[in-house]
Amino acid sequence: MSATVEVVSKGLDNVVVAESKTSLVNGHDGKLIYSGYKIEDLAANALFEEVVYLLWNNRLPNKAELETFTQDLATHAVLPIEVIQHMRQLPRTANAMAVLRSVVSLLGHYDADSEDMSVEAVRRKSLRLTGQITTACAAWARISSGNDPLAPRADYNLAENFVYMLTGRDPEEAEVDAFNVYMVLLAEHGMNASTFTSRVVTATGADYHSAIVAAIGALKGPSHGGANAEAMMQFLEIADPHNVDKWFQENIKSGKRRIMGIGHRIYKALDPRAQILKEKAEALAKNSGNSKWFEIAKRLDDMARADDYFISRNLYANVDYYSAIVLYTLRLPVDMF
Ligand code: ACO
Repeated sequence: MSATVEVVSKGLDNVVVAESKTSLVNGHDGKLIYSGYKIEDLAANALFEEVVYLLWNNRLPNKAELETFTQDLATHAVLPIEVIQHMRQLPRTANAMAVLRSVVSLLGHYDADSEDMSVEAVRRKSLRLTGQITTACAAWARISSGNDPLAPRADYNLAENFVYMLTGRDPEEAEVDAFNVYMVLLAEHGMNASTFTSRVVTATGADYHSAIVAAIGALKGPSHGGANAEAMMQFLEIADPHNVDKWFQENIKSGKRRIMGIGHRIYKALDPRAQILKEKAEALAKNSGNSKWFEIAKRLDDMARADDYFISRNLYANVDYYSAIVLYTLRLPVDMF
């Protein structure tokens, strides 16, 4: 019996479910590579659209291809009026990820290719949905706060459009840069929980929108994509850099809670995305004139990094930890994270 227990792996540990050229996640050394390009290089130099093109075609676009692709994404990012009408009917207190899950499901009904599973049709649907999700997120931020949603502009890229549709004003360079980097860092991560979920649905022969709806459901969980909102809630609860030590003792050392945004299923070294977001969060915080939230996050991170419990378990900040500070500094409502 004990021998059997020893060979049973945890979750999908050491279980090969697919091979991929799209990305390499090296959790041991803390490296992430998209189709041959280091995440650090892409975060510093690439537009989100370039990265999407790279992931879909396994090569970067040339200048003309990028212009056409950026324009195509923007022009297909419009939501059908029926979907906006549905969104207006939803309770304003609805959870933003639950709204997104419903919206993507609805979009399937209005997509002419919804039941066509050919590669060409899936590419058309992917192009539409990538932009439509951006529009839907901004639209929900406005509808839930009693404002009218805005349509995307064809002359803006997705990061610019997101800031514009969220705020109703021209986007500032620092905001666009931060959202662009955030989307670049989150675009791909191998066989993570939400990707795995979508692939299970796809493998049954079900339609594209069903696979994305299922993936959103998995991503919503606090152990996965929901962790950045939870991380921000914990920084808000700490409220002041001077409270970090006491909070750490009372909540973490007592074993009552986990630090949200720390630890990762694959990375047993620093998540390379966390380092990039930490630098981004610090710069944005300084620029905004309010470094309090960054200081709380950094102090808690430093405490964990100096603590034997976290050291011995290889627990480092993950992508969600400092992204909470980035998104909060950009004034995105926490439940939209
Ligand atoms: N704070 C305190 N202790 C932790 C934390 C944490 N954030 N994360 C893991 N641990 C401890 C566990 O209690 C466990 O201790 P034990 O060996 O004494 O039992 C050990 O570290 C291993 O934890 P597991 O949950 O078994 O590790 P796993 O790799 O399965 O979990 C996970 C990874 C779910 C991300 C976990 O680290 C966690 O809950 N983190 C907080 C939530 C979070 O930030 N999620 C976002 C992940 S990134 C993403 O999905 C986009």
